[in-house]
Amino acid sequence: MIEGDDGRRGPGARVAEPRPIPAHVGIIMDGNGRWAAARGLPRLEGHRRGVDALRAAVKSASDLGVRYLTVYSFSSENWTRPIEEVTDLMGLLKRFIRKDLADLHRNGVRVRIIGERVRLMPDIRALLDEAEILTAANDGLVLVVAFNYGSRQEIAGAMRRIAEGVASGAIDPATIGPDTVSTHLDTAGIPDPDLIIRTSGEQRLSNFLMWQAAYAEFVFLPCHWPDFDRTAMEAALEAYTARDRRFGGIRPAELERKVKTAL
Ligand code: FPP
Repeated sequence: MIEGDDGRRGPGARVAEPRPIPAHVGIIMDGNGRWAAARGLPRLEGHRRGVDALRAAVKSASDLGVRYLTVYSFSSENWTRPIEEVTDLMGLLKRFIRKDLADLHRNGVRVRIIGERVRLMPDIRALLDEAEILTAANDGLVLVVAFNYGSRQEIAGAMRRIAEGVASGAIDPATIGPDTVSTHLDTAGIPDPDLIIRTSGEQRLSNFLMWQAAYAEFVFLPCHWPDFDRTAMEAALEAYTARDRRFGGIRPAELERKVKTAL
């Protein structure tokens, strides 16, 4: 569905260019609560089904050749939800890691966690550390779990570390540029996202990868997160392949035409 030729064989067959698969996909998994409400179910059931959808998304992303998948599983602002829901989400994360870590590891998935870890409960911190350590040498899909994550908090942390570097003499202020910031973020070493998907029809970034998404393509899907399946992933990747990414420049063919007209 994503790649392929024009169906003709033999002399004159025209093999289509393989279409680009985004190396890094970020997902804002939104709409669990509304999915549950529409079915008269408790919100927890929506989050539970959200974990099933997450499992399927890891598989489809990996099958389709995505290298990095970043999922927004708990934002810095989610602490303002009722304590019962926060407890449920913490429980789901623990269960997800306890239950799925062995499978992820067997499938070569490398887990990375971004977000503020210091103030999390010790048992959660230990599980997050365990997931990263166990899978550190894997070379399959990199699953980046944004947990207790907020982009503004992440950028402020990077600023703090850069300021400390300047104060200690390790960083020359004259050399500070975008790369300095990137290498001080939680996502250091991870390429910027090519595609950000948000489900549930909302069209905003909600403090997710704001620095890193400078040139990301956005695909907003109407379905709620628990209904996000392989077909939805393929549809989002198809939409991405149709985009014309210029990163502020112009396309090579256009550039060539401009050079020719100038000569
Ligand atoms: C947004 O739906 C979703 C979240 C705040 C949490 C995302 C969590 C999961 C997919 C499951 C947990 C997974 C892990 C690994 C912890 P919402 O509750 O804001 O939905 P609504 O906008 O319809 O109320």
